[in-house]
Amino acid sequence: MTEPHDLVDKVVTELPEWLPAQRWFGGKDRPVTSVRPLRTSVLSARPLLVHLVVEVAQADRREPYQLLATDQVDHYDATADPELAGLLLDLIAENTAVDGLVFEHEPDVELQTGLRGRPITSEQSNTSLVFGSQYILKLFRKLTAGENPDLVLHRALHRVGCEHIAQPLGSITGALGDDAATVGMLQQFLPDAVDGWAMATTSVRDLMAEGDLHADEVGGDFAGEAQRLGQAVATVHADLERALGTEHADAGDIDRTVRAMVARLDSVVESVPELRPYVPALREAFEQARDTPGAVAIQHIHGDLHLGQVLRTVHGWLLIDFEGEPGAPIAERTALRSPLRDVAGMLRSFDYAAHQLLVGRPEDHQLTTRALEWSRRNRAAFTEGYAEAAASSVGDPRGRGYLLRAFELDKAVYEVAYEYANRPEWLTVPLSSIARITGEGAR
Ligand SMILES: Nc1ncnc2c1ncn2[C@@H]1O[C@H](COP(=O)(O)OP(=O)(O)O)[C@@H](O)[C@H]1O
Ligand SMILES: [Mg+2]
Repeated sequence: MTEPHDLVDKVVTELPEWLPAQRWFGGKDRPVTSVRPLRTSVLSARPLLVHLVVEVAQADRREPYQLLATDQVDHYDATADPELAGLLLDLIAENTAVDGLVFEHEPDVELQTGLRGRPITSEQSNTSLVFGSQYILKLFRKLTAGENPDLVLHRALHRVGCEHIAQPLGSITGALGDDAATVGMLQQFLPDAVDGWAMATTSVRDLMAEGDLHADEVGGDFAGEAQRLGQAVATVHADLERALGTEHADAGDIDRTVRAMVARLDSVVESVPELRPYVPALREAFEQARDTPGAVAIQHIHGDLHLGQVLRTVHGWLLIDFEGEPGAPIAERTALRSPLRDVAGMLRSFDYAAHQLLVGRPEDHQLTTRALEWSRRNRAAFTEGYAEAAASSVGDPRGRGYLLRAFELDKAVYEVAYEYANRPEWLTVPLSSIARITGEGAR
């Protein structure tokens, strides 16, 4: 039988090699210099299940990650063991504290126990386990002190009866130094949900296969869904406002926003020369955000909204994953921001869905025209839906054109940096959008 400290020693020694191969590891850009355990909790002695918070050092960067280790299967990743995963659910169901970790279900929730857990395989930045067809438990990999915004916003939305989220059912809380830190969130699982990206790209593929037909004529037209999705996003924003309030951005807030966009542009253009021709038009578009008419509402928003963060269920659209951009600092992720940032994120995502089939064949004019047509149609439908359900504080995004355009361009600049570093053949997707949006703005 392995002793907990032997397991911890072994895991910590091998982590510098193992971490970079994990999809959820956020530090793939440089080698891991060292790993040290910050905290160990023995959740079960037999079979051995150890919860570990480790500090991963990479040059001058130090970040905490959580792991579940066992000597049963692959000795790091106990999340692959269905029985051990089931233990986590049982601990939540029983409202238990074990060796410094607090497992709790939400008030008025009664959970079924004795279910096995299996890791999901879909695109994710953390690790989620599904229990039966009822529950999904997300284990946050990179930890931040305090309550995770995903949990905070889900609870707030549930409190005001929001219909466009999966109900939060429980949580696991650990510690980082002297602070409590959310390490897990349990939610209702929607077994029949389809994610928005899969639906949208299927619709694009149908259109491309049709040859002569237009977007509104093919069977897989997405515009109705896009409109309902716009309504759902606006409703979630209105619910977040009801739950947590709203403020008006002052001149200082707007100035900081514009400066941050310009600063990002300056930094990205340094490494990506392809962006250089657009710099004057981009700067102008960012500065124009100052001229947005009327008061600009700021509130809690989703923060990382795209078609992969929405699920279509039989009852309509749900938004998931309110953690914000995992790579951004926590202060930025929890700051009050304009809901139009989420709108811009979704508009960019429609553009990506439309153009992803064209990557590697930019010369196909027929397909390019089709992609543009799909994108225009669905972006318009989404915006229309949003306007229909928007709270009065936010209003119709089309009436905030300068600001929305600036957010969209800022997002595209971010994408340029991302594609340049990770998928250079995709660089044309954000670059052609920047060309188009700045071109249209100049007319
Ligand atoms: N309540 C749910 N019901 C069904 N599937 C879900 C649910 N929540 C998440 N998923 C699936 O898990 C994936 C990852 O969830 P997400 O909350 O985005 O985690 P991450 O922070 O790892 O990105 C989603 O893309 C979706 O496919
Ligand atoms: Mg996600």
